[in-house]
Amino acid sequence: MINFKSDPKNFIRALPKAELHVHIEGTLEPEMVFSLAGKYGIPLTYPDVDTLRNAYNFHDLQSFLDIYYQGVLVLKEADDFFQLTYNYLKRAHDDGVVHVEIFFDPQSHLDRGIPLSIVFEGINRALASGLKDFGITSRLIPCFLRHLSSESAMATLDALMPFRDSFCAVGLDSSEKGNPPSKFVPVFDQARALGLLTVAHAGEEGPPSYIWEALDLLQVARIDHGVGCEADDVLCERLAAERIPLTVCPLSNIKLAVFKRIEQHNIKRLLKRGLCVTVSSDDPAYFGGYLLDNFMAITEGLELSEEDVVALARNSIEASFLPSDEKTRWFNKIERIAHA
Ligand code: ADE
Ligand code: ZN
Repeated sequence: MINFKSDPKNFIRALPKAELHVHIEGTLEPEMVFSLAGKYGIPLTYPDVDTLRNAYNFHDLQSFLDIYYQGVLVLKEADDFFQLTYNYLKRAHDDGVVHVEIFFDPQSHLDRGIPLSIVFEGINRALASGLKDFGITSRLIPCFLRHLSSESAMATLDALMPFRDSFCAVGLDSSEKGNPPSKFVPVFDQARALGLLTVAHAGEEGPPSYIWEALDLLQVARIDHGVGCEADDVLCERLAAERIPLTVCPLSNIKLAVFKRIEQHNIKRLLKRGLCVTVSSDDPAYFGGYLLDNFMAITEGLELSEEDVVALARNSIEASFLPSDEKTRWFNKIERIAHA
């Protein structure tokens, strides 16, 4: 059996983990940007892969999104979405991820003339291959871009309906400040009426009031990021009491300057306060690491114990949209590793 103290990386790798906050467009590595740009004759402003990767220096969420939305433009055919998703699943499997819940941004593709049938075809084919080749289970969560109007989000929900069987929830992402969850009440009402679960990015850069709105107005099952909750004790108590999960993305928070240094990150404090915090990679191709890199960064930077990392793995299964019998199977496997 692998020992946490002597080999934390392989101990964490062996723990069954769910990754619940990863944007598939954020797994687009610079190498793939260049190969697809070559395939389609799309000119790039960067001369090579290394220069592009070195340009990934962000000072806030918007400075990242400006580059991220440029990257998306090289994704055109179903095969591109297949390769993108399959590469991510292979990488996640290498990190000991057993279940993934993947975001994508329908409006980023629809608005440049790529039909959703192409996007779903490529992603769904990769998810089927991921199950067959790696045993990874999955869910898909299309997100509405919050810098666009609520009417655009509603039209997107309509456009998603022919593919209703391919996703279990809808989410909310993009530029948080100035775009509160309250802007999207009608579309989330409609989504829930259609039997969909809901999640939303809130408290990444925005105030605790955005987390309250996501809970009370959008009735979300999880908060994406949510680290801003710490400024509001009543909110923290509610999140802990109701076990509302936060999908926390440590390396993302450092790259986007939510926290200056990993040693200042609040995930350990939130865990100790009883919140159901989980670890995810957000946009790993841009933020310098996949799931295991995120776990290692906080394990080293915050001096996490074996008990802490086991709790984080357990929380990820608890917070997932897996059925309870599958959750129980993973909980049992985690317990066996924890007590070996
Ligand atoms: N889209 C992709 N990554 C995001 C993030 N970290 N926050 C908001 N929207 C995003
Ligand atoms: Zn995100």
